[in-house]
Amino acid sequence: MKELRIAIIGCGMISHRHMTVIRNLNNRGQNLKVVAAAEIDKEKLLAWGKQYGIAEENRYTDFREMLRRDDIDEVEVCVHNNLHTSVSTAVMAAGFPCYSEKPMAASYADAKILYDAQKKYGQKLAVQISSIYNPQTRIAKKMIEEGKLGKVYHARSVGHRRQGRPGYDMPFFTQDFISPTIGVHGPLFDLGIYHLAQMLYVLGMPELESVYGVQSCDYWTNPVIDKLVGRIAPVEDLGVGIARFKGGLSMDIYEDWAIHMDEIGTSFIAGSNGALKFLDVDTTGGPLAVPEGGDIVGGGKLQEPSLVWFGVDEEARLFETKLPCAIGDITGQQELLINPEIAKYNDNQLQWYSYLRGDLTDETRIDSPYIAMQTAFLSEGVVLSSELGRSVTADEIRQLSKSIAIRDQETAFGTIHYDFDEYKPE
Ligand SMILES: NC(=O)c1ccc[n+]([C@@H]2O[C@H](COP(=O)([O-])OP(=O)(O)OC[C@H]3O[C@@H](n4cnc5c(N)ncnc54)[C@H](O)[C@@H]3O)[C@@H](O)[C@H]2O)c1
Repeated sequence: MKELRIAIIGCGMISHRHMTVIRNLNNRGQNLKVVAAAEIDKEKLLAWGKQYGIAEENRYTDFREMLRRDDIDEVEVCVHNNLHTSVSTAVMAAGFPCYSEKPMAASYADAKILYDAQKKYGQKLAVQISSIYNPQTRIAKKMIEEGKLGKVYHARSVGHRRQGRPGYDMPFFTQDFISPTIGVHGPLFDLGIYHLAQMLYVLGMPELESVYGVQSCDYWTNPVIDKLVGRIAPVEDLGVGIARFKGGLSMDIYEDWAIHMDEIGTSFIAGSNGALKFLDVDTTGGPLAVPEGGDIVGGGKLQEPSLVWFGVDEEARLFETKLPCAIGDITGQQELLINPEIAKYNDNQLQWYSYLRGDLTDETRIDSPYIAMQTAFLSEGVVLSSELGRSVTADEIRQLSKSIAIRDQETAFGTIHYDFDEYKPE
């Protein structure tokens, strides 16, 4: 297999997950080589370079210098939310395919700018959405396509942590998560994208008509912690909404980072003949993200997603069937034996590398940039509705969304100016 030469931008927490997946894939016969890395924080860059054996001449504080190289096949962007459009468009403008972290952007406008940059620069793009690369999502999508649930009329997208604001309750995450200019938004744009994107994708990307949403930031805080973590202004800790799609399909949305409650329930999709309950949705990257003998980055444990299928049979008897969906369990392994190609749909990064190698095409890969952009569209609807105090239509979301991605970033070595397109609503 031909060597794929990779460069990383942003050597923070998530970059270590990328490296774990790369190592695990190399152990399974892939030929991936991380040849260069860029990180504005000199000390972090040095430590990262030492950890992964990246020599000094291949380490950059200014990623723009790294993009002058001609021996890189693709770039993985691991900076924070409001820098995704900024850095990932710069990567594509410099002539490289780009794998960008989630959420696609902190506003719909910026997600659209990044989406359009693929065509503008003629480059491939993927956005990390681990929840859709596994049997849980695949089986649910197929069951709905085959009509097993009958007429699908309602979905619920759910995510909950009892006390899990990254960078606040979980200080091992950087405070950029709760920065109003860098992370920008709370749970809906953080873990929420995994749940929303999964629901939208499984439902066949329904067309949004309108959404009513409320966001708030009222969970307990502590002045000492505020000071310690440098919390300057709050971002949301709760986002809720109700969306209506073409054809009458509805979806209620619940996503918190922290609330005084044990159980909130799970995502589900309901139809006239049956429903699917989504248990343990993958937000940590699947088995390839697990380092040998260690924990997944961020302290997460490997999630083993499953589905519960509720329905009624022809004799009017109710049934409730658990469908195991883990990649590593017996059914997951047998699925792989029967169809080894399915491995390319079981992991974000493997799918990306397969797409770059030409083993998957625009038609056969999962179109993560489109799914991520539509997810941003729905999330933005909740944001705008919450600000306006009324529901918003799809047209209004397109008109009112604003580009907020960082255009000038101050660093120790000067200002990085990002030159990406203005947003033009259609
Ligand atoms: N941490 C996780 O568990 C996790 C999981 C999934 C996705 N993500 C996503 O990954 C992104 C990054 O999260 P993180 O936890 O790794 O954050 P982080 O703060 O640990 O890492 C981001 C790194 O980017 C660097 N950076 C900023 N601007 C840069 C630039 N111009 N050039 C080079 N480096 C630059 C920062 O100095 C920092 O080290 C976020 O968007 C987050 O939503 C994180």
